Amino acid sequence: MKAVLIVLVIAGCALALSYEDVLEAEWQAFKKEHDKSYQDASEEQLRRRIFKDNKEMIDKHNARYAAGEETWEMGVNEFTDMLLEEFRAQMLGGLNKTDDPTEIHLVYKPSPNFRIPSSVDWRKKGAVTKVKNQGHCGSCWTFAAAGTLEGQHFLKTGNLIDLSEENILDCASQWPYPNQGCNGGWASSALDYIKNNGGVDTEASYPYYAYQGNCHFDRRRVGATVKKVVRVAKGDENALAAAVAEYGPIAVSIEATHLVHYRRGVLNKRCQNVIDHDLVVVGYGHDVRGGDYWLLKNSWGKERGENGYVRMARNRGNLCFIASQAVFPLV
Ligand SMILES: *[C@@H]1O[C@H](CO)[C@@H](O)[C@H](O)[C@H]1NC(C)=O
Repeated sequence: MKAVLIVLVIAGCALALSYEDVLEAEWQAFKKEHDKSYQDASEEQLRRRIFKDNKEMIDKHNARYAAGEETWEMGVNEFTDMLLEEFRAQMLGGLNKTDDPTEIHLVYKPSPNFRIPSSVDWRKKGAVTKVKNQGHCGSCWTFAAAGTLEGQHFLKTGNLIDLSEENILDCASQWPYPNQGCNGGWASSALDYIKNNGGVDTEASYPYYAYQGNCHFDRRRVGATVKKVVRVAKGDENALAAAVAEYGPIAVSIEATHLVHYRRGVLNKRCQNVIDHDLVVVGYGHDVRGGDYWLLKNSWGKERGENGYVRMARNRGNLCFIASQAVFPLV
């Protein structure tokens, strides 16, 4: 297949490869790379049609990127044969998290004379664990909670310890917590659970398996504890930057619609009306091409985006609700 393709490309000037030929080659390569197999011919036909629509959208966007009209690039990935709604159900859990039910009375606001540094990257200080992968489970909220706590715990003790998302997923998805396991939840509520529970186990002692099982928290395996949960002043990007600079990595919630095909650069596109994904802000900065950005640690594996990270536009009117639900623990 590859050899045939090369011949076609070499002969391309004379042969004039049609868009359909290119699409077919890309479709075959896509299926192979992502190990796709479909139930029958009619499902394959449907998947190919969705792939084609997404590919056209990606190609158009990337042509604008190449022309300097966009600040971020898109890419084909394992989700390119899925509708947005399917993606949301599989990776986000589909819960609309716009209203956060967790009561938090402690609100962070920077003191008026606090000078925000021009850039921060907590990875360089060793406060960030490796990028993780939530798999086909809407458990982003457990990863965001673990991520901010891992950072806060490191800054207090000097020990960077991977904490157990599975502990949170299994134990904080039942009464009195509003979280719904793999169907979604709130990082604020996860931190609340850890505070009330007297800690969360280490990842090593309570590993992740991407579905909700029975709670088997073990007090002897606690990796970190939480004294208080703090909310950053709602919608205030300035307060969020100050909190990141002063306290370290912070859990945030956003709308993930444009993250599906994000490859690199500073994502800058308006969102619609839903908060459905949690990540960890591990820094911020300024990019010559993309302007001010937030540096976000995602939980979709290190192959996605910029080695598992996403840069998203900062100071663009609370883009995709980035500063609407920012929380972190005091340890
Ligand atoms: C999500 O919830 C908010 C607040 O309740 C609401 O305004 C918004 O329309 C909802 N979004 C969707 C897509 O249902």
